[in-house]
Amino acid sequence: MKALVTAGPTREYLDSVRYLSNGSSGKTGIELARALKQSGFSVKLILGPGSETPKNIPTVRTVSALQMFEQVKRNFGWCDIFVSCAAVADYRPQKISRKKIKKGAGPLMVRLVPNPDILRTMGVRKGRKILVGFALEDAQGLQNARKKLKEKNCDMIVLNSPSTVEADKISASLLFSDGSALKLGKISKDAFAKKLCQTILKKFYGSI
Ligand code: C5P
Repeated sequence: MKALVTAGPTREYLDSVRYLSNGSSGKTGIELARALKQSGFSVKLILGPGSETPKNIPTVRTVSALQMFEQVKRNFGWCDIFVSCAAVADYRPQKISRKKIKKGAGPLMVRLVPNPDILRTMGVRKGRKILVGFALEDAQGLQNARKKLKEKNCDMIVLNSPSTVEADKISASLLFSDGSALKLGKISKDAFAKKLCQTILKKFYGSI
């Protein structure tokens, strides 16, 4: 079985040094890639900026959402399961200034345009592949996560909260397209990755 995993944030540059991003250490996705590999999956990791490239996992480094999108499209045909852990920025500056923008007295207007939704696009092309998404919600979590599960055509979505961002622990609920759910207590991200991997094996590949 082949698993494609995205992890980390994306950076959307507005000039040569400044960017918009999401808080994300990439830790959950990297740990999950490790756990999947240990369970016998062939793994490819597409990893945003800001963390070290993990050893022994084939990794493609990306910066922007558009670059991550390109790499996911390039590798999607290869995989049996796509796990979209990445905290992709929803918008990017319409123009990137090649020079550092000078400070002025007045407000600076930056026009943002929407980035493609990588997971949603892959959801349309899903075929028989398994798709796992993440939903970070600060209110009405269950409702929003269920909506995303459906809209993005996922088999499972991991609901978690903003307290997870760049923390060592995560408390999450796993929601499935068959309507079932599994609530996990607050656990370390490597324990979570192992649990998520076990759940994937049990739920989608019939392993005990
Ligand atoms: O940002 P949102 O809450 O919609 O993210 C939910 C899921 O969609 C996550 O799995 C994330 O990796 C994915 N996503 C994506 N491309 C985006 C935004 C989110 O693949 N532009």
